[in-house]
Amino acid sequence: GMEISKLLTTLGVITLDPGFTNTGSTTSKITYIDGDVGILRYRGYPIEQLAEHSTFLETSYLLIHGELPTTAELDSFTKRISRHTMLHEDLKRFFDGFPRDAHPMPVLSSAVSALSTFYQDSLDPFNPEQVELSTVRLLAKLPTIAAYAYRKSVGHPFLYPDNSLSLVENFLRMSFGFPAEPYEVDPKLTKALDQLLILHADHEQNCSTSTVRLVGSSNANLFASVSAGINALFGPLHGGANQAVLEMLEGIKKDGGDVGHFVKRVKDREPGVKLMGFGHRVYKNYDPRAALVKATADEVLASLGAQDQLLDLAKQLEEVALSDDYFISRKLYPNVDFYTGLIYKAMGFPTRMFTVLFALGRLPGWIAQWREMINDPATKIGRPRQVYTGYTERDYIPTEQR
Ligand code: ACO
Repeated sequence: GMEISKLLTTLGVITLDPGFTNTGSTTSKITYIDGDVGILRYRGYPIEQLAEHSTFLETSYLLIHGELPTTAELDSFTKRISRHTMLHEDLKRFFDGFPRDAHPMPVLSSAVSALSTFYQDSLDPFNPEQVELSTVRLLAKLPTIAAYAYRKSVGHPFLYPDNSLSLVENFLRMSFGFPAEPYEVDPKLTKALDQLLILHADHEQNCSTSTVRLVGSSNANLFASVSAGINALFGPLHGGANQAVLEMLEGIKKDGGDVGHFVKRVKDREPGVKLMGFGHRVYKNYDPRAALVKATADEVLASLGAQDQLLDLAKQLEEVALSDDYFISRKLYPNVDFYTGLIYKAMGFPTRMFTVLFALGRLPGWIAQWREMINDPATKIGRPRQVYTGYTERDYIPTEQR
């Protein structure tokens, strides 16, 4: 690959590939996807097995370090992370600077960007101990930042992390607990959220991960690179889709619940009307994550006794779409975002927090990919070329003559 690329550069040949649909930007040993079959594996392990047997922290270790940890390794990784969950008190004050109705995603990316100002002792991309420290800090602090962004939006006081709890329990307590009251952890919700984080943990060279790698390719530090990834994830065609799906379902419900009518609007290509949560650049078959999420949605909503009309609408929508030639011929299937929002809603998260939950899940993937990039001798600064289609040369005209 590298040799051919050098030869083409010498010859002055440029490939034009908008959206990079057919351009490999890197080699990678982390995540394997076969989109035609609907296969997803992290470091060789099928996503179904990890979702059933692993935990989010164990899967994070696997993605970042390449192997499943031994008991001792997982224990020390978990303990180390639990010692870094607090935010610097000065960083805590940042949250007061944002408007109360701020979307939590830019709050999240700003706080992560600010980590490089508080933790200047772990910014060197080529010092493995510093990189490990930044890794631990990010994994430990992002749930705290996310919970604080939520608490700020509802005007509730911040709760300090309780490190006797697991990462997910701690996050749920900081989000929904009350000061000076013990927090009742619901084991079903904890398990469901942990599993959702595993399903989001990596997805090879998607938009946000490519962003993390591109920013990092200039040797920008891990916090700066991940902050950029969070901003890329914010868009509705990427992580923002989980919020957009719920808004779509609520819109359909408000208009009387006519699923067929909505599908017709999609097919008529009304501007801005897409079946959100459907379609994927790589999957031309059922997204294996969506299949797992759909089962979890059923379980969680049943266990909460939540008779969610929106879940029924989503299922009807899927059924109509999957039997319609428009969607069949374009190989459009539900993606991971189609059912996640319904679970997050049942857990009590407002719609605007959904993409934040995606970011919590994707974090170990961003870190693993950034580290792979930094350690890869083939890495060069990311610098795509272009095909110029503007004016050739022309002379400057003074203002009064234009
Ligand atoms: N609803 C209706 N039509 C769609 C949809 C959709 N959700 N997705 C794709 N199509 C159509 C396109 O209009 C196009 O049809 P055409 O060739 O007749 O014009 C065809 O299917 C191919 O779609 P592209 O947009 O070329 O596919 P691309 O790979 O560029 O886009 C994307 C993939 C962005 C995910 C797209 O399917 C989409 O916008 N989906 C909705 C948003 C969404 O759910 N995003 C989450 C993605 S997963 C993730 O980030 C975790």
